[in-house]
This record gives sequence, structure tokens and C-alpha cells, in this order.
Amino acid sequence: MGCQYFDPCDHGADTFTIAIPKLTFGRGCLREAGARAVGLGMTRIGLFTDPGLRDSAYFETVLESLKQAGLDIAVFDEVTIEADDASVERGATFIAEGNFDGVVSIGGGSVIDTAKASMLYGLHPPDEFLDYFAPPLGAGRPVPRSLLPHLACPTTSGTGSECTSISVLRINDMATKFVLANPVLLPQEALIDPACSDTLPAMVVASTGFDLLCHALECYTAKAYTRWDRQDDPLKRPLIQGANPWSDLAARRALEIAGEYLERGVSSADDHEARDNLMWGASLAGMAFGNTGTHLGHALSYGVTHLMHDVTTEGYRVKSPFVPHGISVVISAPAIFRYTAAAAPERHFEAASYLQSDLQDAGVDDAGEALAKRLIELMQKTEVPNGLGGVGFGLADVPALAASSARQVRAIANSPRETNLVDIENIYAAAISY
Ligand SMILES: [Fe+2]
Repeated sequence: MGCQYFDPCDHGADTFTIAIPKLTFGRGCLREAGARAVGLGMTRIGLFTDPGLRDSAYFETVLESLKQAGLDIAVFDEVTIEADDASVERGATFIAEGNFDGVVSIGGGSVIDTAKASMLYGLHPPDEFLDYFAPPLGAGRPVPRSLLPHLACPTTSGTGSECTSISVLRINDMATKFVLANPVLLPQEALIDPACSDTLPAMVVASTGFDLLCHALECYTAKAYTRWDRQDDPLKRPLIQGANPWSDLAARRALEIAGEYLERGVSSADDHEARDNLMWGASLAGMAFGNTGTHLGHALSYGVTHLMHDVTTEGYRVKSPFVPHGISVVISAPAIFRYTAAAAPERHFEAASYLQSDLQDAGVDDAGEALAKRLIELMQKTEVPNGLGGVGFGLADVPALAASSARQVRAIANSPRETNLVDIENIYAAAISY
């Protein structure tokens, strides 16, 4: 590869792998659900959604399309707003008893992630729930080679779950989230209909928009794949493989979209150009991080959702404590990119430029500060919480937050800059308010 960032190094990887589903994008494409499901060989479908979407026009469109295609359908709508082990266990029973030959999911990341994991746990139940998770949390039990065909239909512009082999699940007993990652979880097809974003509340567009922005930014600035150890067994090559030329393409465009349309999409539900682009940006960012892995932004968000208390967010119909995923990620982001820029200044400078930062008087050495300033500006204009202090944390919480997030070992190692526990504490301390 000609790019200096991917120059080979001793014992480093010299191969990267890309996996994405077949995608259909466009207003009204949910009407293709029936034909697409038939094309995937489905005859009896497990249809996943959540209780809030069950009465929506989008769900109705998918259901009607499946019915008109002559398909047999059973609905599972017991998905919680943050996918957790309890809803996956219910979904697994639904799959195990349903005699399905295909799954369709319509909803946000929680619905799609629940559908992915429910197939795994329903068709191949382990002895213990954590058996499929990587050590030290789980037993690292091998995942079977295939599940049922899955057609995913996202209704929010953030998670990109329709494009990834990842399911993020909250483990209720541990009050924290962990990532289940395996190629078998990748949906075969996705229908991305931006009309689904027309009715999203402003704060949902803001949170999911910052999620897509951070997916793209973390991918673009991740450690180069050539800096990870070479893995000669292709089936053992991890999904978190570092920045690569493919993810650069998708992340770059997703950053441009976030820079141009995030503020507009939040401020007006009628701005179809902005909301359509955010929907496309979310899928692009999903295609990037599904083949790269995120780094500190997402790693540090896990401490926030683990330890949050007495906090809710406007626009979400959930009880306290709750911080939306995208907010839990972006509140630490300005402090993170001030920290990581020193290790890859050109990458951070380019990312700042894609996000439409004001770089008139800035050089490459100012990249971290320029990026942080632009993120803070976008956070203020979209009225999201101003740092960790905005969701109830103070300096006294920093050691516990850092200890919790330090468990995200692989994501932390995907940072372009080596990062230890003290570094994480310093980042959190700098992220209390901006
Ligand atoms: Fe995310």
C-alpha cells in the first residue's frame, strides 16, 4: 500500500479482511422486504422489533411486504432500548421454538443486536450465557459457522449494526455492556430506508449522529492494521484489525457527512437532505468500524454506562439511569482526541478537515486541539451534555470510571497511542466539562 500510515513493520499484519452485507439504500425501500426475504430463501420468518416500533408505519410496511410475498411470520417485540442478556434469552427461546428459516429485524441497534444474538443462543445454546464472550469475561467458546439468513432494517442513523458482525449486550448482573464479535453475526442483507429517520426526536438524531461520527473518527485514527501482530490463520484474524485502506474510504465520507449534516439533521426533522445523508453516513461508519474496530471513544463509554446513576435524557422513553450510547461516547471524545493526536497528527488533522473544522491558522501540530474544538462546537450546537459533568459525574468518579473501562482491552489497544490506566484517568479528568 502506498500510504505511509500502513507501511509494513516487523511481525505486523500484511493482510486485512473486509466483510459487509448486501445493502439497499433509499426512501421507500422497506417495501422490498418481502422480495428480499424470498430471495434469501426464507419461508417462515422470526420478525424482531421493539414495543415502540410495533405500531409504527415502518413496521407495518415491512410486515405487509412480507405477508404479500406469501411468507409465514411470527413477531418478537420484547427488545429493551439497550439490548441485554434478558431480552436475548427471551429472543433465543422465540428462535428455538419458532422453527424459522430466516430472521428480519426492524429497529435501532438494540433490535438488530438482539436478533443477531438470539439466533446464536437459540440455535446453539451454551452452558453459560458468557461462554461465547472472549476471555477473561467469557470462555471464548467457538461460535458455529452459520446461523439463519438475516435481513436487517435500521430505523436510526447511528449504530450501523446492519453492517457489522458485532452485538453489544448489557449483562444485567454486572451492570455493564460487553461486545460479542464474530463473523457469523453479520446480516446477509440490509434495507436502509432514510424515511425511518423522519420521526426521530432531535436528541435521538444527536446521540445516534455522534455515534456515527465517533465510529468514523475512531476508525480513521485507529492504529494501522500493519501495527497489529500478523495472524496467519485467517479464521482467527480478529474483527478489530485496525485502520485499513477500506475503512479509510468509508470513514472519510462518514466524517464529511457528520461535519456537513449533523447540526442540520438535529435542528430540523423536515431537512430530508440532512437526515438522509446521516442515515447513509451511519451505514458507511458501520462498514468502517465493523472492519476496523473502535478505540478509546467507545472503550471509555463503557465506564459511563456501567456507573451512571440518576440520569435520563430528553427524547427517550426510558427510566433512570440512562445515557444514550452516542452521548456516552462523545462526552469524552474531545479529551480523547487531544490525547491521541500526538501519535498520528496527520490523521487527526485530516479528520478535523473532513469534519469542517476551522483550520485557517492551524498546522498539523494543532490537530488535536482543532479536532477537540470542532467536536465541542458540534456538541454545543446540538445541545448534548457538556462532558461527563453533564451526565452526573465529577472528579471523584474518575478512578472508578477508569477501572471499569480498562477492561476493554482490545479496543484500548486499537488506539494509535499506547494508553494505560493513568492515561485513562487523565482523559476522564479532562472530560468533566469543556
Ligand atoms: Fe457506537
